[in-house]
Amino acid sequence: MSFKKNILCIGAGYVGGPTMAVIAKKCPDCRIVVVDISAERISQWNSDNIPIFEPGLDKIIKETRGGNLFFSTEIEKGIKEADIIFVSVNTPTKTFGEGAGMASDLQYWEKTAHTIVENAESDKIIVEKSTLPVRTAEAMERILKASNRNIKFEVLSNPEFLAEGTAIKDLLEPDRVLIGSHKTEEGLKAAATLVDIYAHWVPKEKIITANLWSAELSKLVANAFLAQRISSINSISALCEKTDADISEISYAVGSDSRIGSKFLKTSVGFGGSCFSKDILNLVYIAQSYNLKEVADYWEMVVKMNDYQKRRFVQKIIKEMFNTVANKKIALFGFAFKADTGDTRDSPAIYITKKLVEERAFVSITDPKALDNARKDLEGIERLAAENGEGSGNSGIADGHGGERVKLVPDPYEAARDAHAIALLTEWVEYKDLDFEKLYRSMKKPAFIFDGRNILDHKKLYEIGFNVYPIGMSHFTHFE
Ligand code: UDX
Ligand code: ADP
Repeated sequence: MSFKKNILCIGAGYVGGPTMAVIAKKCPDCRIVVVDISAERISQWNSDNIPIFEPGLDKIIKETRGGNLFFSTEIEKGIKEADIIFVSVNTPTKTFGEGAGMASDLQYWEKTAHTIVENAESDKIIVEKSTLPVRTAEAMERILKASNRNIKFEVLSNPEFLAEGTAIKDLLEPDRVLIGSHKTEEGLKAAATLVDIYAHWVPKEKIITANLWSAELSKLVANAFLAQRISSINSISALCEKTDADISEISYAVGSDSRIGSKFLKTSVGFGGSCFSKDILNLVYIAQSYNLKEVADYWEMVVKMNDYQKRRFVQKIIKEMFNTVANKKIALFGFAFKADTGDTRDSPAIYITKKLVEERAFVSITDPKALDNARKDLEGIERLAAENGEGSGNSGIADGHGGERVKLVPDPYEAARDAHAIALLTEWVEYKDLDFEKLYRSMKKPAFIFDGRNILDHKKLYEIGFNVYPIGMSHFTHFE
């Protein structure tokens, strides 16, 4: 069968995989190849065990793979064949040198631009999907145009707004699709080509076109606004804990104002994920680089408030457990940064585990999807334990029941056995329906529950015998 367009996506991650699967499903007239430098990732995408957990994704991959969707490691071949190239490689926060901890590390992205230039044999539309600092498209153009071969590249910015756990729904029914281009004849023509692809399933009025820089900046600003709402409500949760106010009542009352709206006002142990902190710090770095100190400080506070919320949660555990968790067992329910994903990037659980280990607690971690990632995140935790004066000599992480500081335990009942406390960190729906009487019976007394997501029935837990500490509302304890 002949296809109308050949699409290539470089980077088969959380963004590239689901986005291309949905384009393949909705555009049977397009042939889509997704490539990655990681051969392991590609072979997982080609197997029955795809590398990311995302509700509904499995089904679409089964429908499209081998028909008009292909996963491959042949990057050069893919570039040669493509009319349109989506770039969705990772752009983590820089960990070294100038801008460390704030700016984006663009090494993967720049390498991609060079690979495109070296292998292209015809004109291409290049679509930035990865979140990138504003004016990255300009840098990409410079690299692409530096070759003296007579090939034209038109760069578009098409930022991704999908959220993990709801990626397929977000892609199928987006609030909007944003396409940024130069306002030149060629730029507008390229944008129209991309609009046509999305118009296969997205109503035209939801496809917004903008200039290149507005599109790039909009992505950072959208994430900064969303995260700002969470930090705002979390800041008030601290105030609630000092008064008789209840954060869920405040969220409801405030969110009922149609000008404010009810979404993203759920207090929590802190936001995580690959985007929020990274994108805000990026915005802060950009503002600083233009000498806009007040702007930079304003947005940086959103991240600082999030750090405070995570820190406050651990401090509360320690304080309420009689000022020490040394050699006590704490069961962490949930390690993913949110429910319905196995992703743990920047998850508050990482910080909380490390802090508890520093305090010499034994930590048992359970999560329905994220234990493999948790194992990677906690590599080196033995060093932390050793620095704390414990020369165990082992990895510090165990899957069973050794004497190690951190255990990964798939079964929540097993994770909580003999524990002094449960700290619920991820709002997995199955945690609401656990048999808490059974959990209580198996735990050390007095038994504590710290509900970092306010999803449990606190009164019922109290009646079972637990001492219950939600976020931003009164706690229920059996102590005098
Ligand atoms: C986010 C944006 O929502 C998405 O548009 C963008 O493309 C990528 O970044 P994601 O990080 O996948 O998506 O998840 P999101 O649902 O936004 O949650 C981020 C974090 O905020 C999670 O840790 C979540 O638990 C937390 N959160 C969310 C709260 O603490 N309270 C809320 O009310 C909402
Ligand atoms: P995101 O959440 O933005 O999708 P991921 O880390 O999940 O980020 O995915 C990015 C993918 O990009 C990874 O699978 C990584 O191997 C891939 N990648 C990084 N650099 C390159 C490159 N130069 N060529 C091809 N793939 C790359």
